[in-house]
Amino acid sequence: MNSPTNIGVFDSGIGGITVLRALARKFPEENFVYLGDTARLPYGAKSPTTIRKYTEQNLKFLMTKNVKAMVIACNSASTQWSEPLFENTPVFNVIQPGARAALARSSELRIGVLGTRATIESKSYELALKSLNPDVQVFSQASPLLVHLAEEGWIDDPVTNLIVYRYLQPLLSQRIDTLILGCTHYPILQNSIQRVTGQQVELVDSGEALAEDLEQAFVAGRIKRSENPTRSISFYCTDNAETFATLARRLLKDDGIDFENFEMADLQDIR
Ligand code: DGL
Repeated sequence: MNSPTNIGVFDSGIGGITVLRALARKFPEENFVYLGDTARLPYGAKSPTTIRKYTEQNLKFLMTKNVKAMVIACNSASTQWSEPLFENTPVFNVIQPGARAALARSSELRIGVLGTRATIESKSYELALKSLNPDVQVFSQASPLLVHLAEEGWIDDPVTNLIVYRYLQPLLSQRIDTLILGCTHYPILQNSIQRVTGQQVELVDSGEALAEDLEQAFVAGRIKRSENPTRSISFYCTDNAETFATLARRLLKDDGIDFENFEMADLQDIR
């Protein structure tokens, strides 16, 4: 049997495309399979048990796509799945890399976390940050509407700016110096967010931080590098493929990544 060649990546929707983009930039020779579970979005409003069940189904689906590693490109799912292996295949999640990157950038150790309700209620970032540095002060804010604004493609829209402003006020009044974009949808709204925080607040994109973790896994030999010079990226989603594909194309076009369409994935029968 040939050894597996793909890196599987999943999110509830379009957010994970920001992670895929970071990975595709850093590893131009690797093949990827992306799954957006659009039929069940948003994950951030679901209970921990449901999010874990969806996560397991997504991992099982990706396992059928010849994967050598899998990336949970969703913070909400990452809070419910910290195991490093699934059926002997390495699994990466965004929480630890995001926490490490934030601490590396914060000089005042006053870190804000913006995330879905599930992520904020799990306290995963707070725990990860404090276990790395007990002196850090963490200020968290759930901002669920931002997921829907990103899915709508309301990037740099006045309405988005207003909502971002409202969510960020409590964090800015705590004089944070670093802000973790603790939902992979949020880098899509990065311009609006940075405009409200000002340049003095460092934004941490957990997707970019995660790419560093993957690099270390390649260097350590935990994952084998691709030997195929022509890369392929396949896309799957569970509903509304056209809307999704339009926005994904917009996010990936500057990287020269194009695709015909998303294939549909049916996760109902995966137990
Ligand atoms: N992009 C996801 C995250 O990082 C999930 C957003 C959602 O489905 O609520 O949390």
